[in-house]
Amino acid sequence: AQMVIVGAIASAIGIVIALVIDWFPADAAEQAGPIDTLYDVLMIVSVPVFVLVTTVTLFAVWRFRMRPGQENEDGPPIHGNTRLEVIWTAVPAILLVSLCSYAYAVLVDIEEKHDDQLVVHVTGQQFAWRYRYPQPGGRAIETTALVLPKDRPVLFKVHAEDVIHDFWVPAFRVKIDAVPGITTEVRATPTKLGRYPVVCAELCGLGHAVMRSSVRVVTPAAYDRWLQEQTAPAGGEATGGATAGGEGEAGGGGGADLAALGRETFVSNCGSCHTLADAGTSGAAGPDLTTALRGQDEATLREDIVAPDARITEGYQAGVMPDNFAETLSAEQIDGLVAYLASVSR
Ligand code: CUA
Repeated sequence: AQMVIVGAIASAIGIVIALVIDWFPADAAEQAGPIDTLYDVLMIVSVPVFVLVTTVTLFAVWRFRMRPGQENEDGPPIHGNTRLEVIWTAVPAILLVSLCSYAYAVLVDIEEKHDDQLVVHVTGQQFAWRYRYPQPGGRAIETTALVLPKDRPVLFKVHAEDVIHDFWVPAFRVKIDAVPGITTEVRATPTKLGRYPVVCAELCGLGHAVMRSSVRVVTPAAYDRWLQEQTAPAGGEATGGATAGGEGEAGGGGGADLAALGRETFVSNCGSCHTLADAGTSGAAGPDLTTALRGQDEATLREDIVAPDARITEGYQAGVMPDNFAETLSAEQIDGLVAYLASVSR
């Protein structure tokens, strides 16, 4: 009886703590509410069970310990207790089956398909996220910035280029592994305007901690405008993040334009791993380029971008930097990067 009372008091305190502290980040998607409630229910059910079992175990260890001078002999023989055994089998079974059914119902609910869903492909690569928006009858839009319209269901199709990453948007309660060779899926319907972090939640290498990006939830009108900007020739390049190549001759104006494109390409593709004072980036996975580039010619800079392992320099570890920028960036973007880096390394 003592044990049960102590256990009950401790559980009550545990539940109060669990409910009073606000554990959750902002909730910016339809899925957040049901998931947070599920979490609360699991806490409320499992805290008392955990506290009760722990209390009873510790109490028994203390109460029935061997005392000094006591004989080390067998305890009294007990041949089971049917009633107790039925209780401790039935109660956990009922608890588990109810919690599983509830969790399953929530899962089915948040994964429900919608006809007007927006499909966004997410690709994880050491150490950055890329997003692709397929356009019916047109060229897909590729960006390094995730922009979503408010109140429209989104289906994320998640891919990985090299190793396992994990696409996590805490504010949406969305988290799914990005696995090379397969496509994983997860859904969310953003409900609040704002900017929220996108995080990699699977240890994936040196730059794992900096593998972050963000999602901007905007009004449907602003989203349409953003889409227009991304698809518009030339103009798309200036608004940040359009990486689909061949979008008109934006660099026609000469060296200054090319360097500007290069700087922008650097900020969205290289900055999460490299510090470069001129670009205002502070990534720490790769060498600090503020000083490392001094006096390099354009041919060397180009090689460092498209075939980083070809020339091992001090402070650089082979295999860390992606070696497929020649495919993921347009020729123009690479020209821009070379022009820009050459201009800051002088
Ligand atoms: Cu990608 Cu951690």
